[in-house]
Amino acid sequence: MDDLKQKYLDQIADAADEATLESIRLAAVGKKGEVALKMRELGKMTPEERQVAGPVLNALKDEINSALTAKKAGLADAALDARLREEWLDVTLPARGRPQGTIHPISQVSEEVTAIFAEMGFSVAEGPRIDTDWYNFDALNIPGHHPARAEMDTFYMHRAEGDNRPPHVLRTHTSPVQIRSMEKMGAPMRIICPGGVYRADYDQTHTPMFHQVEGLAIDKDISMAHLKWVLEEFVKAYFEVDGVDLRFRASHFPFTEPSAEVDIRCSWEGGTLKVGEGDDWLEILGSGMVHPKVLSAGGIDPEYWQGFAFGMGIDRIAMLKYGVPDLRAFFDSDLRWLRHYGFASLDQPNLHGGLSR
Ligand code: PHE
Repeated sequence: MDDLKQKYLDQIADAADEATLESIRLAAVGKKGEVALKMRELGKMTPEERQVAGPVLNALKDEINSALTAKKAGLADAALDARLREEWLDVTLPARGRPQGTIHPISQVSEEVTAIFAEMGFSVAEGPRIDTDWYNFDALNIPGHHPARAEMDTFYMHRAEGDNRPPHVLRTHTSPVQIRSMEKMGAPMRIICPGGVYRADYDQTHTPMFHQVEGLAIDKDISMAHLKWVLEEFVKAYFEVDGVDLRFRASHFPFTEPSAEVDIRCSWEGGTLKVGEGDDWLEILGSGMVHPKVLSAGGIDPEYWQGFAFGMGIDRIAMLKYGVPDLRAFFDSDLRWLRHYGFASLDQPNLHGGLSR
């Protein structure tokens, strides 16, 4: 009897899970278990023998049962402990994982530019990238024979055979949006228009598709001085510095008179592009006072209104601010480049919180 008891108490102590415990219970105190079989033998015993063996067997059965109950509770506790150890949650973790994607520098810079001009009262206008040659050229005082058409390396859309209308063009600049905005809004107005433009050109600082932001302010008594002030304020805010060397060069555009191009001081030393130092200049924009013929084309009376306009290369100023020496890299879709130069998707540029952080 003692051997039997020891055997089952040992097995119970060693059991690692409830299933094992259940099979031990069946083998020991189940209906066909070893203790039950022994109890059946009581019938064959003499009354005296039975008086001794009966209580012993009952005590054995009780002992095994309470060992089973105790072990079962112990296993349940251990299982709960293990679950609690595994299923924990660090409530101090950030709510979201780090976003995988980044904002492309061109998008970032467009947002930065928009934020700065919004502060100066400019709203954002848009126009189509495929436009008529009237909006892209004629309305901007560039008639059919004008050499500027050839200089712009224009991409022309295909026309069906026998269709003799002038072809649409991929806009070569954002200036057609000047005309579209004049038609839509009239004077006075202050708009910028960021967007893609196209020219057949390809080298370290030119790609066939690139980005400009057009600016147009029309009011009474607007002068070149306003243009210069706005551009200087913009450049300081954009480069997040107190001053940057700008060079205003007299120039010529058919749609402005007078006209000026603006360069910014930079250095290309050692393959890195730095703004504000060195002896090189990078042209970043063309500008001037809107030509009276352009105002007329947009339905605005040049007798009463005048304005300034500028067209700035977004990619150029992105290269300068973020030190990207080759423009072509912007459009290579190289993931390593994008991860390096990209911006966190939840940071919105604004003048008060910091443009680029
Ligand atoms: N559209 C001109 C360009 O693409 C830039 C410009 C815009 C110049 C507005 C003057 C006024 O080069």
